[in-house]
Amino acid sequence: MDTFEAILARRSVRRFTAEDVSAPHERVLLEAAFAAPSSSNGRPWHFVVVRDTATRARLAGVHQWSGLLARAPLVIAVLARADTKYWVEDCAAATENILLAATALGLGSCWVGIWEQGEMPNPDEVEALTILGTTADCHRCLCLIGLGHPAALKAPRTQFQPSKVSYERVGRHAR
Ligand SMILES: Cc1cc2nc3c(=O)[nH]c(=O)nc-3n(C[C@H](O)[C@H](O)[C@H](O)COP(=O)(O)O)c2cc1C
Repeated sequence: MDTFEAILARRSVRRFTAEDVSAPHERVLLEAAFAAPSSSNGRPWHFVVVRDTATRARLAGVHQWSGLLARAPLVIAVLARADTKYWVEDCAAATENILLAATALGLGSCWVGIWEQGEMPNPDEVEALTILGTTADCHRCLCLIGLGHPAALKAPRTQFQPSKVSYERVGRHAR
């Protein structure tokens, strides 16, 4: 699968088979994450690999859209050092790299958002950090990624919208 095929094929997968994600595949996902661009090459991220069933069940309860984490055999939590400025952007780039690498490996994945914009970490983020054994003084959490072998295939698709593309200035849709 080439890069553009993987980009189009990546879909959010929330149902998984019982098959585990292998250790070599886990390594590829982490390598992909670490290859992401980051501001000033700061790489503020820290990834927590979670396979423990009880821990995944607790993470699944963090908010109403996180239930899939109990069904995903592998969860990667995308954290960053709390004292860095562009951690959200850096962690988002690393997250997308993980999702695309997963697609290329034939794995399904889903981004479960945790961070919400605001001065202080929201209660869901505080809870996720607590479950992962840290605090908001040390780390922030952008998201939790559920990973596994997809129980059903979703079709690749492009969502290209010409109305959201302008040429030379906003609103000019013809070249
Ligand atoms: C910032 C962000 C937060 C998301 N949070 C959740 C979530 O909490 N639970 C979930 O099931 N999907 C979550 N998603 C996945 C989106 O629902 C999904 O990407 C979107 O519906 C488009 O579908 P696709 O990923 O198949 O293209 C999130 C995606 C992003 C980018």
